[in-house]
Amino acid sequence: MTETVNPAEIPQFPAARAARCPFDPPPVLHALQEQGPLAKVKVWDGSTPWLVTRYEEQRALLADPRVSADVTRPGYPRSAPVVSRNGSAISFILMDDPEHARLRRMVQAPFTVRRIETLRPAVQKIVDGLIDDMLAGPSPVDLVEAFALPVPSLVICELLGVPYADHEFFQDNSKILIRRAADPEERAAAFARLVGYLDDLVGQKLDHSGEDLLSRLAERIKADELTRPEAARMGVLLLVAGHETTANMIALGTLALLEHPDQLDLLRRTDDPKLVAGAVEELLRYLNITHSGRRRVALEDIEIGGQVIRAGDGLILANDIGNRDPAAFPDPDRLDLRRDARRHVAFGFGVHQCLGQPLARMELQVAYGTLYRRVPTLRLATELERIPFKHDGQVYGVYELPVAW
Ligand code: HEM
Repeated sequence: MTETVNPAEIPQFPAARAARCPFDPPPVLHALQEQGPLAKVKVWDGSTPWLVTRYEEQRALLADPRVSADVTRPGYPRSAPVVSRNGSAISFILMDDPEHARLRRMVQAPFTVRRIETLRPAVQKIVDGLIDDMLAGPSPVDLVEAFALPVPSLVICELLGVPYADHEFFQDNSKILIRRAADPEERAAAFARLVGYLDDLVGQKLDHSGEDLLSRLAERIKADELTRPEAARMGVLLLVAGHETTANMIALGTLALLEHPDQLDLLRRTDDPKLVAGAVEELLRYLNITHSGRRRVALEDIEIGGQVIRAGDGLILANDIGNRDPAAFPDPDRLDLRRDARRHVAFGFGVHQCLGQPLARMELQVAYGTLYRRVPTLRLATELERIPFKHDGQVYGVYELPVAW
């Protein structure tokens, strides 16, 4: 059943995107997907995990209890070198049940769709205020600094109980933490600084509790249900995941729309919440910013897609190309805001499926639903070729986006 592959023919992962198609996955992923659902690839340390390219097999494996997200297991395909430090894993995203479920349960209440909807008016106010400031200032401006980063940062700070005044500190360190190309020592130091910062905040909440999520975690510590280091690492996960991802979606989504004027026009002219919500799903599918794949390791032999994955084999579920699988989404490389894209895997699938997705969806609906209507003349203030893309990041996006109106 398993094919013998000539080692010289194993492609390198991650691969480069085509310069002219900054929104599309690398062409080699398209080619691999056409050949079959799984292929061996070579990663930075010379190891050869499986790359899973097709949508159905990705969902099947992400939902399979024989597959582990535990980064400490041998065979786990790390995305970049690490220096080993005690407790360096970024909380439950890299753990298996029951530990993963125990920790996730402690933070999930504020992220339900119902609770997130109550925040919509406050998010609308933030978005309107930032657009007011932008319009009152000089044009061109960098949309990342002026809009894309502050929207989710302000919101996650409020939810967690982190002072927004510290945004430069946590944004700078988050950027290092998720840069694959960063020196491992530098990345470990950024992580340690973030853990130290969150640990201080948790300490403050132990003394003076509030209504925020870190205060809830402080109560769990007092009840001996959680250790302080666990709380600090969960805080880092929520803070980093809560602002970097959505910020990249806002900026990259805006660029994709500016490059597809007919699609941008749909958003500019509508106040139909259903169309806006559908547009968010399609942009999540089309851009799939978590482009370095979901990483897993097999716990047992698994037969799938005409191959046998052996216990201990590493797996990379490339959800960017999964979202462009023609068997799941007809004409997948076309950005079509009117299509039904809700079954995309941009938020992953299975037990680790994104905890913050109701929040991300709502923020993106408010941001996309407001920006282009309020600034109908928004345009790119440079050539596409000059935009710095995050090819080296765990999360894809743009480092800056000069826009004018
Ligand atoms: C557009 C924005 C976002 C995208 C594309 C995104 C994507 C993802 C993906 C693909 C995963 C699955 C990881 C895996 O299976 O290995 C994930 C997990 C996670 N995300 Fe998001 N995310 C976004 C926004 C957010 C926000 C706003 C938060 C808020 C705190 C958040 C918190 C988390 C957490 C805590 C996990 C880990 C879940 C678990 O392991 O059980 N994300 N996200």
